[in-house]
Amino acid sequence: MPRIAYVNGRYVVHAQASVHIEDRGYQFADGVYEVCEVARGHIVDMPRHLARLKRSLKELSIAWPVSEGVLPMLLREVVGRNGVVNGLVYVQVTRGVASREFVFPAAGTRSALVITARKADPALAAKRAETGIKVITVPENRWDRVDIKSTGLLPNVLAKQKAKEAGAQEAWFVDTDGNVKEGGSSNAWIVTRDGVLVTRPAEHGILRGITRTTLFDVAAKLGLKIEERGFSVAEAKAAREAFISSATTIAMPVVEIDGAPIANGHPGSMTLSLRQAFFDVAEKSPA
Ligand code: PDD
Repeated sequence: MPRIAYVNGRYVVHAQASVHIEDRGYQFADGVYEVCEVARGHIVDMPRHLARLKRSLKELSIAWPVSEGVLPMLLREVVGRNGVVNGLVYVQVTRGVASREFVFPAAGTRSALVITARKADPALAAKRAETGIKVITVPENRWDRVDIKSTGLLPNVLAKQKAKEAGAQEAWFVDTDGNVKEGGSSNAWIVTRDGVLVTRPAEHGILRGITRTTLFDVAAKLGLKIEERGFSVAEAKAAREAFISSATTIAMPVVEIDGAPIANGHPGSMTLSLRQAFFDVAEKSPA
């Protein structure tokens, strides 16, 4: 079965799917996106992801490419046509195709919509969670509207490549006060020596992760305390546990920061409990 992509109203074979060379996403990264996890045949937290997409579009004055109510159906259709039971579905909206001028194109220019889906092996993620991941820290060098899930991700690309070259799997952006902001494609968390979950407030220079939001619900269910506050790299290195969260990793233990082991260098039990309980709490739309 060939992979199928949705491109501006048509379902096309993924390998042949293309957009115009003057798509503003291609030329200016003038677009936004969402990634939803697909788990056991369900799209995870789709309403929250689509609500964030709506916000991103509004913040950038990009028009809806289709009527809002149709999008869940399109996501389901792409997941179904690709036979994805476990994996992810990606949705991207750009300001559309227009002659290359910086200012917005003429009113009536249609925004462009691409939806793809791909399979992932949950056993690989589970295996990774057993050993945990390593992170490096890098100075924050992104714009200050990282609350918008924009396709302009060059600093994230460079940071994550740097992490890879250092033998790590994620890079944490650090602000000028020495506080951790978030990862290149994930939110950052620690567990203090007293067993309190700490993550940076979403109002302060990070993306309000959907997994992060759902983990607040998971923590409430497990009776865990959360403090929304900044934490420094030094505090993270001395923490009992550290982890990242995103749609593609859920809660993933961090066992090393800049080469320094966290606690005994093994995944923390609270992180693993959050990971385990996640799907009982997350909203699951049938795909
Ligand atoms: N990234 N922060 C950044 C910079 C991100 O790119 C992401 C997600 C998150 C976590 O958000 P969520 O929990 O909604 O996935 C935080 C996705 C997975 C990506 O770009 O592939």
